[in-house]
Amino acid sequence: MEFNIITLFPEIIDFYCSSSIVGRARKNNITSVNAINPREFTNDRHRTVDDTPYGGGAGMVLMCDPLFKAIESIEKKQNSELIILTPGGETFNQNMAQEFSSKEQINFICGHYEGFDQRIIDGLQPREVSIGDFVLTGGELGALCIIDAVTRLLPGSLGADESTIEESFSEDLLEYPHYTRPAEYRGMHIPEVLLSGHHANIAKWRKKQSVLATIKKRPDLFEKFRQKQLTKEEKEILKEVEEIIGEE
Ligand code: ADE
Repeated sequence: MEFNIITLFPEIIDFYCSSSIVGRARKNNITSVNAINPREFTNDRHRTVDDTPYGGGAGMVLMCDPLFKAIESIEKKQNSELIILTPGGETFNQNMAQEFSSKEQINFICGHYEGFDQRIIDGLQPREVSIGDFVLTGGELGALCIIDAVTRLLPGSLGADESTIEESFSEDLLEYPHYTRPAEYRGMHIPEVLLSGHHANIAKWRKKQSVLATIKKRPDLFEKFRQKQLTKEEKEILKEVEEIIGEE
């Protein structure tokens, strides 16, 4: 998987993508990450990438030419996606991460400050993606969120002990609570079952906790889960959880 990021701040990308799991995937050649600065594609003394808006108003607007040339410098692969990060785009989610993880190449355009010339969208036809209903100063954090979420889905990027995909059951549910040593901390004890060594009971307890957390924190996700084809075991857990909820 090749990620190319057009950004005025390549150091932001390089720093994040050299750390932790994303950095390791890159080192192991599961991904390559290249930040490309549109300033490299300017000809004037000041290496200008933005200008005042036509029609007046505050702020500066990213110009077409350095952006187009930066995009054209990338050797486009067949199975590639061009994304522009903008608060007005479709909101990024796990399904999109799954979809992007099957690409050979993802190219990102990061806007900054006030915005970019509309002809970048009209001429390059990127997919417009937002990472949430808030306004950032630039698209870099958005690109990093997508790179991170996609990288961890690529085969080999997570070690066996880091994998969070625990069968289909957990896909539409929140995670169960985790605990590590010590077994008692400031008077707070870990659930007994986790000390029992009984793997089947522990697995069932975890699934139940996942369902409970989802009902309480994300009823919208839970509704989606309930609509799914559930296994006999899942139906059983659901019944038990609904009894607990009914009693609360
Ligand atoms: N650029 C500015 N705000 C953004 C957001 N919410 N998502 C993606 N890119 C952005």
